[in-house]
Amino acid sequence: MTTEQQNREARLTDRVVASFDGTPDPRLRELMRSLTRHLHSFVREVRLTEEEWQRAIAFLTATGHITDDRRQEFILLSDVLGVSMQTVTVNNEAYGDATEATVFGPFFAAGSPAVEQGGDISGGAAGEPCWVSGTVTDTSGEPVPGARIEVWEADDDGFYDVQYDDDRVAARGHLFSDDAGAFRFWAITPTPYPIPHDGPVGRLLAATARSPMRASHLHFMVTAPGMRTLVTHIFVRGDALLDSDSVFGVRDSLVKDFTSCPPGTPTPDGRDLGGRGWSRVHFDIVLAPRSP
Ligand code: BEZ
Ligand code: FE
Repeated sequence: MTTEQQNREARLTDRVVASFDGTPDPRLRELMRSLTRHLHSFVREVRLTEEEWQRAIAFLTATGHITDDRRQEFILLSDVLGVSMQTVTVNNEAYGDATEATVFGPFFAAGSPAVEQGGDISGGAAGEPCWVSGTVTDTSGEPVPGARIEVWEADDDGFYDVQYDDDRVAARGHLFSDDAGAFRFWAITPTPYPIPHDGPVGRLLAATARSPMRASHLHFMVTAPGMRTLVTHIFVRGDALLDSDSVFGVRDSLVKDFTSCPPGTPTPDGRDLGGRGWSRVHFDIVLAPRSP
């Protein structure tokens, strides 16, 4: 490329960056200048063709068309590009031994059923029963009583309740840590499932030979006064998908032992599971202070 061509390209970038100089909000000014620089670098680095530009516009248009109040394809795009996980990483700096955060995902629903300590959040969802226990503490090891623990997960068929057309509420619930910061409840053993892949993001994954599968996980959101809200999952040690999670959500510290208990193994609370096998997992949650 000639020096004259390089200069023309660089001058254009500079002019567009400078067009944001008068933005009154300093943060918006910073965001728009930086976005412009990165987008222009991309176009120049890959020598984007006009046909590729048109295909990109068509892809984004299709992403918009499939998005409604039940389906958010732009967030899915951000997820598979690792942008959601990078945003989580930037915004949840490590603090002592506080539990690491991961992606929120699109399947949280407000107003989940309250369950008692030892209760069952499965709500009839298909799956092997799983006994989940643990504690909520702060980073100095002090118990956090009364923490609100929201839990949600996919059923054995790989679907969240909100993905069904009926109004079922299943495999989600909330409870509060007890006076010692402890919690225990029945859920179902997490199994792998694909993120929605019947739209533009699914076509992108197929074209790039990537799988839509997520490693098996159980979602948690934990809130307590004065504490940083923790949005995370726990993953199943030994799951074959841990290294290829489609949204890059796995962190080593969140991989837990789900111990398999054959039919007939006595349950921790004496519950009769009618001869079914079950599993158990322990998860100690450490919350960072809200403003360290
Ligand atoms: C989830 O874990 O529920 C999820 C996360 C990102 C995209 C789709 C689903
Ligand atoms: Fe999930």
